[in-house]
Amino acid sequence: MSAARERVLSGIQPTMDSFHVGNWFGALTQWVDLQETHDCFYCVVDLHALTVNHDPAAIRQRTLASVAQLLAIGIDPAKSTVFVQSHLAEHSQLAWVLSCITGFGEAARMTQFKDKSQKDGADRSTVGLFTYPILQAADILLYQPTRVPVGDDQRQHLELTRDLAQRFNATYGDTFTIPETMTVVGNSRILDLQDPTAKMSKSSPSGAVFIMDSNDQIMKKIKSAVTDSDREVSFDVTAKPGIANLIGLLAAATNADINATAAAVSGLGYGAFKQQVAEALVARIEPVRTEAQQLLAEPAGLTQVIEAGAQKAKIVASKTITDTYQRLGLLGSGS
Ligand code: TYM
Repeated sequence: MSAARERVLSGIQPTMDSFHVGNWFGALTQWVDLQETHDCFYCVVDLHALTVNHDPAAIRQRTLASVAQLLAIGIDPAKSTVFVQSHLAEHSQLAWVLSCITGFGEAARMTQFKDKSQKDGADRSTVGLFTYPILQAADILLYQPTRVPVGDDQRQHLELTRDLAQRFNATYGDTFTIPETMTVVGNSRILDLQDPTAKMSKSSPSGAVFIMDSNDQIMKKIKSAVTDSDREVSFDVTAKPGIANLIGLLAAATNADINATAAAVSGLGYGAFKQQVAEALVARIEPVRTEAQQLLAEPAGLTQVIEAGAQKAKIVASKTITDTYQRLGLLGSGS
């Protein structure tokens, strides 16, 4: 049955002990929904986590914690293929091939690299950080997806992926499906609670609500979220980004339409509004956190999921690599 379905691929980094609601409401909700209609491949991209300093023991644990959280938010391994990037050598193999058709200037224009390398200083940035988007393109193209559900911050990497696929196909013959970027309407860029001009990110823990935060932490973070000098809630993304962001979070936490949510809270005082947002987030997050903790307490179950996932992923990825190598004119072994 699933063979006739269009394919979806997406990935998430295991760089923290917990995903934040930017990841969840800005991207992962689509992963859950797409399971009903698409043949979904979801990858924990541990090789990408090596592009910055990392602690080996922590990344091992975080990879399992990532899988636990994916299952806890509703990714069903009976419906989707859940796997770990480093379990398949094909990701690194295709990344090399794609790096050979990527222009140096083209890679240098990637804003995520520019931002991160500016922060850390050019000398401390690695070549891995520079070629990160090429590995991401390989993650995607290996599985021939038609759609890639992500947050808004991934658009540029997805454009590069499409360009590389088109370039390869034009040079060596049709090999890769050209994938479409898919984002959540209204919530594709969740903002930092302390700085509503920036996206919510793991590097700003007080500005992010994490799935594994305690109820207390969630309440405190929402109550201290930066808003503006008005007193009553109204929905204005440009003039009132802090409030608009909280409305987006409330809509996502209650599975409601963002405009309907905005209408329902319009005119509330900020204190009462924040209380409502915080309670809704606690109600949504608490069962997911508990489920993730229970799954993590039995890591053997998680290991089984990713081993089965790697086997299913391998079937698709190895075919793409074989086809790619043939198109490139590589001799091939044993044939
Ligand atoms: P990562 O691990 O940073 O984030 C995972 C997903 O969460 C989305 N996201 C957000 N969405 C809305 N608002 C936010 N504040 C926010 N913060 C994060 C991201 O857009 C992403 O969809 N490069 C990717 C990982 C990756 C990947 C891939 C994605 C590697 N290979 C292949 C798709 C396909 C990244 O760093 O995501």
